Parts: sequence; structure tokens; C-alpha cells
Amino acid sequence: MNTPRSAHVTGWGRYAPAQILTNADLEKMVDTSDEWIRTRTGIRERRVAAAHETTASMAAVAGRRAIAVAGIDPDEIDLILVATLTPDYWMPSTAALVKEAVGNTRAAAMDVAAACSGFVYAVSVAQAYIASGMARHVLVVGAELLTRFLDYSDRNTCILFGDGAGAIVMSASDEPGGALGIELTTEPSGAYMIWLPAGGSKAPASSKTVARGEHFIRMEGRETYRFATRTLATTALAAIERAGLKPADISLIIPHQANIRIIEAVAKGLGLPMERMFVNVDRYGNTSAASVPIALAEAVDTGRIQVGDRIVLVAFGAGFTSGAVAIEWTADPARGRLAEAIGPEDVHVRLPLDWESVDPMPPALAAVLAAPAPVEVPLDEVVPDEPEEIGAR
Ligand code: ACO
Repeated sequence: MNTPRSAHVTGWGRYAPAQILTNADLEKMVDTSDEWIRTRTGIRERRVAAAHETTASMAAVAGRRAIAVAGIDPDEIDLILVATLTPDYWMPSTAALVKEAVGNTRAAAMDVAAACSGFVYAVSVAQAYIASGMARHVLVVGAELLTRFLDYSDRNTCILFGDGAGAIVMSASDEPGGALGIELTTEPSGAYMIWLPAGGSKAPASSKTVARGEHFIRMEGRETYRFATRTLATTALAAIERAGLKPADISLIIPHQANIRIIEAVAKGLGLPMERMFVNVDRYGNTSAASVPIALAEAVDTGRIQVGDRIVLVAFGAGFTSGAVAIEWTADPARGRLAEAIGPEDVHVRLPLDWESVDPMPPALAAVLAAPAPVEVPLDEVVPDEPEEIGAR
């Protein structure tokens, strides 16, 4: 029997839509404040996909970038996995659309549903395909367009989430390194702590479900917070130990970017300083399955990861689910520059014939984003001169 091959990260890429939604914008929509959001979550702003963008289009840009960094032809990819809880459609899979958009003709493609843990779950699938010899190169994408599934009158949820995509290529190798240890958990007792009630077989979409707002994400924040702080460090530790390592051996943890306080709890649980935690929740908010691959690509491109480093990806999410993978990094970080030439204009997601979607932007969000920014005029331009003294003339 052949010894299982190891699965190395050979490419990485990310895509964030241009439009920014600030905490000040949210103050205009719900009873909240920039101060509350910053101190309770660490989030300052998040990205919002434009009306013409979809989960598949963002996934394809991140995927094309990861393939360019890996230095392979798109057709060398054997399997495409897209982790998402906000697919373009119930069917076809978002992965099927991404396959064509990245220029691949021969891969199998499927979506992975494990909410915010989805990307880590998908990495475990890629690792198993590679170790068993069923695939040589796997494109693993995490992509979300959450802003179209939020109730912009619910301050408990609408402040947290944003849009974006991240991707990696995992490739078979006989060299040591790559994915070393994996841990995954699923706890159905938390099934209804974060959920989206309508649109499935239990409550098919209808005017009644829409009137009840059941097509929006619902969340018990405190229970979710408790699960995350109880589970994340334990899950990460299990993956680290499976890799034969100790927390002190890990140079950087890439945690799911949900809340800075949750990330601080992971650091504490693992006995590591905050410098070893990668944080970008302030700029993107929670992008669910996209958060770990966006953070990973940004960490490599900003010099936080070097060849030989041991890193851990760790996430939690609806289900409840959690997942962690310990990785020995083997790719030259300088290759990240190869992604720069690729932009949204380079991918084309197939559209349906004879069907136009309704305007996909939530009206409250569209209204705030369309409002012109307040003009800040310096005071000395309003009052150019001191008033003349009475009687000076
Ligand atoms: N602005 C102002 N006040 C608010 C806001 C807001 N946006 N949201 C809630 N509040 C109020 C609450 O109503 C509450 O008021 P009350 O005391 O009068 O009842 C008060 O603030 C405190 O609310 P808590 O829920 O206790 O606040 P907490 O400190 O727990 O922070 C938060 C809430 C940020 C949601 C936190 O619980 C959290 O991060 N939970 C985890 C959420 C998460 O990560 N979800 C994603 C999971 S991943 C996936 O699979 C999608």
C-alpha cells in the first residue's frame, strides 16, 4: 500500500468587495453606537457586495487568485469545494458555478455546509482526498454574501456580518509538512442558536414566511458566545496535539473572526499572547466561512507566516460546529504577488437564460449606502474673516 501523501497549501487568495459599511452607517439603521459595537465585538467596518456580485463571483475571484499563486493551470484542479451558508441558489451548487468561472473543465465540484466552520471542514475533506490519492490539487474556497440574509432592523445580528471570499489550493506532496492534525466537532444541542428558519423543507419560502421575517439569520448571541469561548481553544488544542505539537510550537493562530473577545479567550485558553493571534475582524466583521481563508491569505501576504512556521486554523459556527487544522507552512510567501494581476473582470459566472433576479440589495442597506456622505467643511471656510469691530470704520 502507498503511504498517504501529505496535503500542502500551495496557493492562497482573497477578495473583499469595495463597498464599506461603517458602524456610523449602522447607527442610522438601528439603535446602536460605534462605541458599543467596537467594545463588544472589535468590529469597525465590514464589506458589502455590489448588486451585480454573488457568492459564486466572489468565490471565483479568490479561487483564481489562489490558483495563480499555486502556479498551476486551472484544469489541474481535481476537486473544487466551496464552503458557504449563503449559496447563490439552493441548486446548482455554488461550487459548480465557480468551477466554470475559474476556467476548470474537469474537476468534481461540491458545496460544504458547516456554517462558519465550513472552510475548516472543507480543508479536512481536501486533506482526505489528497491523502487517499483521489485528488492531486484541490481548490478550497470559503465565500459568503451574508448582507442579503440580515434583518437590518435587528441590532443583535446586522452589526456583526460582512461579505467576502478566501481560497487556498491544497496539493499532494511526498515532502513532509502541510496539514498535520485535524479536529472537528458537531453539537446539535445548539442547532437553533444560529439558524435561518425558512426556505428549507420544514418551512418552504412563502409570503407568510417572508412576512414573519423567517428568511433572515436569527441568533442567540449569548449562547453562541458561550459555546465559542468553551470550545475553540479545546478544538485547537486537539488539532495541535494530533500533529504531535504543543501550543508553544504554534507561531500564529488564524481564528474565525467573529468577535475580538472570543479571540482573546482562545489566546487565554491556549496560554498564548495576543501577538500570536491573527486579527482582522475590525475591518471585515464576521464573514462566516470566508473569515478564516481571508485571514490566512492576509496573514501570508503581510509577512506574518514564513516557510517552516506551524500555524492553526480554528473556527466555530452554527450547528453548533467547530473545527481546527494544524499546518506546517511550506510555500514561499512571496508568491502571493502572483494574485495581484487577477480582478473581478477576469471571472464570469454563468447566468440563467430568460430569468432576471429581483433587486438583491436589502432596501434599508441600499438606502444607507446611497446616501451622500456628510460634507465636512473646515470652520475657517465657513467664517473666512473675524467680524469687524463695531465702530472700527
Ligand atoms: N447595539 C447596542 N446594544 C445592543 C446591541 C447593539 N448592536 N445588540 C445588543 N445590544 C444590547 C442588548 O439588547 C442587551 O441589552 P439589555 O441588557 O438591555 O438586554 C445588551 O446590549 C447586552 O447584550 P448581550 O447580548 O449580553 O451582549 P454581549 O456582550 O453578549 O454581546 C454579541 C453580544 C456581540 C452578539 C456577543 O454575544 C457575541 O459575539 N456572540 C457570538 C456571536 C457570533 O459569533 N455569532 C456568529 C456565529 S458564526 C456562524 O455560524 C454564523
